[in-house]
This record gives sequence, structure tokens and C-alpha cells, in this order.
Amino acid sequence: MNISIKIGSATFKNPVTVSSGTFGHEERYFNLEEVKRLGAIVPKTVTFNAQVGNPPPRIFETPSGMLNAIGIENPGIDNFIIKKLPALKGIGVPLIISVLGHNEEQFIGILQKLNAQEGIAAVELNLSCPNLNHKVLVAQDPEGTTRLVSKMKAISKFPIIAKLSPNVTDIAEIARAAQEGGADAVSLVNTFAAMAIDIKTRKSRIGNFTGGLSGPAIRPIALYMVQRVASNVKIPVIGMGGIMTASDALEFLIAGASMVATGTANFINPRAPVDVLEGIESFMKENKISDIREIIGSLKK
Ligand SMILES: Cc1cc2nc3c(=O)[nH]c(=O)nc-3n(C[C@H](O)[C@H](O)[C@H](O)COP(=O)(O)O)c2cc1C
Repeated sequence: MNISIKIGSATFKNPVTVSSGTFGHEERYFNLEEVKRLGAIVPKTVTFNAQVGNPPPRIFETPSGMLNAIGIENPGIDNFIIKKLPALKGIGVPLIISVLGHNEEQFIGILQKLNAQEGIAAVELNLSCPNLNHKVLVAQDPEGTTRLVSKMKAISKFPIIAKLSPNVTDIAEIARAAQEGGADAVSLVNTFAAMAIDIKTRKSRIGNFTGGLSGPAIRPIALYMVQRVASNVKIPVIGMGGIMTASDALEFLIAGASMVATGTANFINPRAPVDVLEGIESFMKENKISDIREIIGSLKK
């Protein structure tokens, strides 16, 4: 059975990964067989400088979903490389390092530091970052997306994945812009802008005022966006958004995703990505499918 996937020059032994910000960084778990079976690991987004994150509450549970505004709490790229990267490399699973700069110089600075490292499979650009001199995020501006991706691609020794925001009118347009910039893949979706209010205090349930919605509540919209993007670009698509089970993941693969990631599911069931992987393998056996490519993009009209 062939379930390996290629993104640019990187090969992943299977198509199941974990989305950024949802994979536990507790080193004592890194030796678990379940962790070693993942196709790739995407750690929490790293910024140029350390960030303390947003004031609490940072998480609020909603019907079939999770509202979060963590504020990309992370130690900054230098500390990440010194303190986090060695243990992550030790897992032996390809690493996709998620990065975010608050301007182009920071993005370039982060990538230059990563370029000096070995043992990284790919870099994911978290495009949900401010766009210089604009009121929108890079992920909301096709020209800004092409410009940033091409600048990063020009200097990167790793394949570049552009992570897209669903908070746009037409996500396929942004995906095409990323492809034009030379992205090796796009990943989608990030969280949907959302909020919840406590009617007693008439205040937001989230310290940051607004947050991002994830989990099963967003799955049908995420699936729709993955299908639209996959039919509009030639590069591989990494699909995510409310994937809880193998059946959910298979929907994303059939819609055109080459890889799938679990996110919110990991908070409920840390074994979720392995359950998804085993379920995909069982589905292939039951249906006598020998290559995952027979599933990817096999949606019938
Ligand atoms: C608590 C939490 C933290 C997250 N942090 C990040 C992050 O640092 N970088 C990023 O690109 N996405 C982040 N995300 C978004 C997820 O990676 C994913 O794109 C999104 O949650 C949709 O997938 P899901 O519904 O399976 O969770 C975060 C999501 C959650 C719930």
C-alpha cells in the first residue's frame, strides 16, 4: 500500500499531520509510538521575537467548536532553534516549521535562521499576519501573498507551504496567488474570525475580544474551501478544519487534499491523528485501493 506524499522535494511517509498550535510540545510524549507514526509534525507558529500571547480567557467552547485567541505565544525563533528544535528533530518525523513575521524583514530573518538548520522538511508561512501599509492580512491580499511567497521561496532551502485564511471572499484567488509566488503547497483552513458574548457581563468571552473558530462546526465550510482550492491550483493542498475521524479526513482527500491535519481533535483525543491514519489504511484495504492517489481528488460530479 502506498500512502506516501511528496511536497516539493520533501517526502512524507503518510498523509496525516497535526495542524500548527494544536500539537503538544511536552517532550515526555515525544517517544510515544503514536507520535512517531505521524506523516509530519507542524509545531506552533514561531515569530521573530518571543511573544507572551493574549490575555485570558484564551479559549471558549462553542457548539461543536472551539473559539481561541492564543496570540501566538512562542519563545521566538532563536529560543525555538536552541530549546525546542533538537527534541522535535529527535522524534524522527519530518518537521514542517510554521513561521510568522510581522513584516517582510522578520519573515526573511526567521527563514535565514532556519536555513542554517538541518532536519527540517518544509516551512509553512502563516499568512494570517499584518500586511505592510494595509489594513488587511497578507492572506487577504492576493498581491501581498504572491510577493511574500516569492521572496521566501527565493531564499528558502526548504519547500514553502502557504497557510491560507478562510476570512476572505474567494480563497481560490489567494491560493492561485500563492502558487504564482512559487509555493510548493497551500494549507487550509486557518480559523474563522468569530466571537461569543457573556450576556451577564455583556463582555466578550475572549480576552482578545475576538477569536478564531475551529472544530467540527467549521468542517463543511473548510471542506468546500479545500475542494475549491484543489480544483484551482496544481500544487498539493493540505486540508484541515474540523477533522475528527478517518471518515472526515477521507472527505478532504476525496475533495482534493493530498495531506490532512487534525487540530481541535487533538485536544479531545491526543490519538486522533493516528486513529485517522489507521482508518484511512482500513478504508484502503476494504476497498482494495493500493495507492492513496486513487483517493485524492476522486470526487465525482
Ligand atoms: C488553540 C489553537 C491554536 C492555534 N494556533 C495556531 C498557530 O499558532 N498557527 C497556525 O497557523 N494555526 C493555528 N491554529 C489553527 C489550526 O492550526 C487549524 O488551522 C484550525 O484550528 C482548523 O483546524 P481544526 O478545526 O482541525 O482545529 C490554532 C488553532 C487552535 C484551536
